[in-house]
Amino acid sequence: MTEDVKIAVVGSGYVGLVAAVCFAEMGHDVICVDNDERKVAALQGGDSLIHENFLPELLGKYRNTKVRFMTDLAEATRECEAIFIAVGTPQSEAGDADLSYVEAVACEIARSLTSYKVIVEKSTVPVYTNEWVTRSMERNGVARHLFDVVSNPEFLREGTAVCDFLHPDRIVVGADSDRAAEVLQRIYRPLTSGAYYTRANAIEGVCNESEPPELLMTSTKSAEIIKHASNAFLALKISFINAVSNLCEATNANVEQVARGMGLDTRIGPRFLRPGIGYGGSCFPKDVAAFRSVAEQLGIDFNLLTEVEKINSQQKKRFLNKVRSALWTLRGKRIGVLGLAFKGETDDIRESPAIEVVEMLLAEGCSVTAYDPAAMKRTEEVLPASRSLRYVSDAYAAAEDADALLILTDWAEFASLDLGQLNKTLRYPIIIDGRNMYDPPTMVKHGFTYLSIGRPAAYPVRDLSPALSAHS
Ligand code: UDX
Repeated sequence: MTEDVKIAVVGSGYVGLVAAVCFAEMGHDVICVDNDERKVAALQGGDSLIHENFLPELLGKYRNTKVRFMTDLAEATRECEAIFIAVGTPQSEAGDADLSYVEAVACEIARSLTSYKVIVEKSTVPVYTNEWVTRSMERNGVARHLFDVVSNPEFLREGTAVCDFLHPDRIVVGADSDRAAEVLQRIYRPLTSGAYYTRANAIEGVCNESEPPELLMTSTKSAEIIKHASNAFLALKISFINAVSNLCEATNANVEQVARGMGLDTRIGPRFLRPGIGYGGSCFPKDVAAFRSVAEQLGIDFNLLTEVEKINSQQKKRFLNKVRSALWTLRGKRIGVLGLAFKGETDDIRESPAIEVVEMLLAEGCSVTAYDPAAMKRTEEVLPASRSLRYVSDAYAAAEDADALLILTDWAEFASLDLGQLNKTLRYPIIIDGRNMYDPPTMVKHGFTYLSIGRPAAYPVRDLSPALSAHS
């Protein structure tokens, strides 16, 4: 039997598009289906639509050959053995995941299904979605022996999505039938066997031939829960260190030292212990809310998640207060802002804490001059330039004549600014860093008043310590 699988991926958002080109990179033939004709045309024409490492290269390599883009889900269903559902599962008003797009896709697949297919949940979905998809298929007249529904959650991060996909920490497959499990094992074999990593042109990452990723087989419900629980746990880790950073501020301790001291314990680990202005993005806020909602519906007390959300939302307000503590009053102040994306190396602004901070500054009557290496175009669509909000083309232009400069996103380029030039460009040499990108003594040496997260405020020797005068 040939190892290659004909795969349909429904949805060409972050997860769908990356999965489609990576499956092709692994050797499979892929049809990527989206009902947005403009998107399909753009992808056919070679526009990768999102800012993501390796995506343009892989798209260039496989577009219209091993990855075909189309709007016709019926044709894709007929041609393919496995159909990955990677459509959006947005947050509804009540906080739970809106699964109407998943349901619509399931119904459409049901209408064109004539031979056995494995239907794979790739989008993040709550537990029991598998059973609802199964029920949907049956209600639309598909015989039970003609399909299986499996859960194969995706753990990729934006910015490193292609690499994360091809070098995963683990591959989780929740399948309740051996037949479906075998198809998924076949799909991932280029990775799990290590064969992919021996290729001369393989994309490099943490996995290799002798350390290929593990494929973990679970029940479908366990796999669904693994995805929500993993994201909620990572969000909890971030909120935990943010709460600890507040404690450090109250005691003049240093959260970076505390996080390092905690992270060296292998049971805790150093990752996702970076304090900041809170987590954002298309996943953590939505998934924590959805997981909390699932628990609520099941009558489980999971108030821990409510606290995670509360700390995250307070973190932005605390940051605004820090700005206030440095500048005294905010109305009429000129603020330079570095970073709008929800994290560095992406143009994604969904649930970006940076944008929330900008909105709060504008509401306080500040005028803001903002720069982001990739996210300005998207930000302008939601926050158009105005008399009080300007977008500029580099960090120094954002700092020009500003009363203070704020670092809101951890773009690598913000860690290596010319501090001498910045100092001269600002009206007052005050930097308030929401991402702890600089070492306080270095900033003081360069003449800055430097406030960061969970570390003692640092003032140049002759500074009048505005943070203190704000309280006096
Ligand atoms: C996340 C998960 O990491 C990924 O496994 C899942 O598939 C999708 O959601 P992503 O949203 O791309 O990925 O970003 P991630 O790098 O996890 O960061 C999420 C948010 O947390 C960002 O706003 C980031 O700035 C913040 N963060 C992350 C911190 O504030 N501190 C940290 O230590 C890590």
